[in-house]
Amino acid sequence: MPTLFDPVEVGAIQAPNRIFMAPLTRARATRDAVPTPMMADYYRQRAGAGLIISEATGISREGLGWPYAPGLWAEAQTEGWKPVTSAVHEAGGRIVAQLWHMGRVVHPDLGGGQPVSASPLVAPGQAHTYEGKKDFVEPRAATVDDLRRIIDDYARAARHAMVAGFDGVQLHGANGYLIDQFLRDSSNVRDDGYGGPIANRVRFLREVIEAIAAEAGMDRTGLRLSPNGTVNGVGDSDGQALFTAAAMEMERIGLPWIEMREPGPQSTFRPTDEPPVSPAMRQVYSGKIILNSDYRLESGQAKLDEGIADAISFGRSFIANPDLVERLRDGDPLNHWDVDTFYSQGPEGYVDYPLRGAA
Ligand SMILES: Cc1cc2nc3c(=O)[nH]c(=O)nc-3n(C[C@H](O)[C@H](O)[C@H](O)COP(=O)(O)O)c2cc1C
Repeated sequence: MPTLFDPVEVGAIQAPNRIFMAPLTRARATRDAVPTPMMADYYRQRAGAGLIISEATGISREGLGWPYAPGLWAEAQTEGWKPVTSAVHEAGGRIVAQLWHMGRVVHPDLGGGQPVSASPLVAPGQAHTYEGKKDFVEPRAATVDDLRRIIDDYARAARHAMVAGFDGVQLHGANGYLIDQFLRDSSNVRDDGYGGPIANRVRFLREVIEAIAAEAGMDRTGLRLSPNGTVNGVGDSDGQALFTAAAMEMERIGLPWIEMREPGPQSTFRPTDEPPVSPAMRQVYSGKIILNSDYRLESGQAKLDEGIADAISFGRSFIANPDLVERLRDGDPLNHWDVDTFYSQGPEGYVDYPLRGAA
């Protein structure tokens, strides 16, 4: 059985270890969603990860509802990412771009107009805006023409990601955003070919993956899912069947890796009593499975030993420990993360976490 410190191939990417960095929104880009120089420092510091999955990155104005999150739809954004990917590569790392359309949880104040979703169902809760939190608004159901345009937006973002020097892309299919809104029957009540039976609800995911892969290469394309639990109000009457079917579809089209945020009841990030789906997905999917949420060295290694995971992604531990891989390898204590600076715009709590021995 491999250890977390052994190499692994995820499609065309050779990761030297199985300790990946989970996607983490940090809100350090400009209001035009252009990456800033500070972001190059942040990702360079974390280049020891087997693979860095970037923070969620908007594919279009319409799809981006997080203040100061970056994008990949405009040339200035693509240019702004180049120093980031160069910094990671110069430090010996690898980085893929997480491609994001937030669907119904984008507030119109962000400039994209009425949000789109699978169906005109308002999410519970509040949206992020530059003026603080505001109630979610009713989305309009995407027409088939909208879907063609959005698929093109995903493809354009994937193309820009490769121009910007990323090693590949990950489709953000998790956490109640647009792809997840199509997958689940609590947010998708369409009666056309994109709604109803599971095979129809998985269709948009597959079409987006195929469009992205046509630009980045299937061997440089991955996916994130959050099969259990509820985020942003999405839920499903049979998550086991839905996500097993999604994994079968990804197997059929040859997607090389799926990363999953699968919390348990004790999780410190959106806990849930819903059981994990990854064991069932493992039975039908032969690509690499990366598991996430609340992992430590021992619990992550246990998932490798069980044969369910091929790698583990770490989120908050990577925020607080740029040298996480070395610390885990040598059994050194970990810095704790500071919640107050997760989304603050400055360098504090971003590029100033101490390396071991420097505290
Ligand atoms: C500050 C913060 C930002 C996050 N941003 C993203 C994101 O951009 N995309 C995503 O898929 N998940 C995001 N997540 C979820 C994390 O990737 C991860 O699933 C979560 O932190 C649990 O893993 P951990 O226990 O290793 O931290 C975010 C979580 C945090 C705490």
